[in-house]
Amino acid sequence: MVGPLSPPLHGAKLVSQVPIGTVFESVAQKYDVMNDAMSLGIHRLWKDSLLHVMNPQPGARLLDTAGGTGDISFRFLDYVRFQRGRRDRRAARANQTLSWQQINDSYTSTEPVQQGSRAVVCDINKEMLKVGKQRAEELGYGTDLSWVVGDAEELPFDDDQFDVYTIAFGIRNVTHIEQALQEAHRVLKPGGRFLCLEFSKVSNPLLSSLYDAYSFQVIPVLGEVIAGDWKSYQYLVESIRRFPDQETFKGMIEDSGFFRVQYFNLTGGVVAIHSGFKL
Ligand SMILES: C[S@@+](CC[C@H](N)C(=O)[O-])C[C@H]1O[C@@H](n2cnc3c(N)ncnc32)[C@H](O)[C@@H]1O
Repeated sequence: MVGPLSPPLHGAKLVSQVPIGTVFESVAQKYDVMNDAMSLGIHRLWKDSLLHVMNPQPGARLLDTAGGTGDISFRFLDYVRFQRGRRDRRAARANQTLSWQQINDSYTSTEPVQQGSRAVVCDINKEMLKVGKQRAEELGYGTDLSWVVGDAEELPFDDDQFDVYTIAFGIRNVTHIEQALQEAHRVLKPGGRFLCLEFSKVSNPLLSSLYDAYSFQVIPVLGEVIAGDWKSYQYLVESIRRFPDQETFKGMIEDSGFFRVQYFNLTGGVVAIHSGFKL
């Protein structure tokens, strides 16, 4: 019921007569453990790849929609902090008037991410956000993050607010994908970037049959053993197969007004990163 491999959630609507809030309330605590179990830990590499494609610089403002427990935002803040540290050290080395103490300080700075870099995690489910917020406090992310309950189809933000919009393993859960894409376009600043990480289509026949075997024979079993829920995981696998392929989704992003849309396959297309810009 959880993880990148979680069955689609349909906004705040009912799933088998159970409000989605109630469903996630029971699973939010287990969410991160399940992510690792169901994807064999590979979701971490996929998320790292998203950050490498994004390559955010100090000062960037991120909206992570369907952000769950904050994985993408944590990576974003780490990445920006690293970039800033590197830039400061370069400046320190170039500046002959700095003392060794000052140069040393630039290596050991524990200040929060400066220059207005901020990430907003937005999710329809407040229990997921609650778990994420607790994690953020434990990991010391503090004031650089905010947590907002909101629907990807109707974002609670003004126009032209963000430099980057991400949605990782979330768009598949949204009922009206086109509506979510239009909202992404609306809240991005001109020049801002849309990035989506989602399951996609494997084209290599050998990999495809291995992937099918894993998906249909292993995932529901894991779902039963770990979450006591075979059916949901069976449904999950089917929902992944129903999600538009790379080219079709690319066309949908273009239709929503984005330019220079492209995608990158990861693990042979098991997952794809789609990218587009608002001009
Ligand atoms: C599989 S999790 C992904 C979480 C996170 N992005 C990650 O990669 O770990 C999907 C998330 O989408 C959220 N979600 C589902 N429908 C949504 C919607 N319409 N608007 C915002 N969030 C939604 C769920 O609450 C859940 O936290």
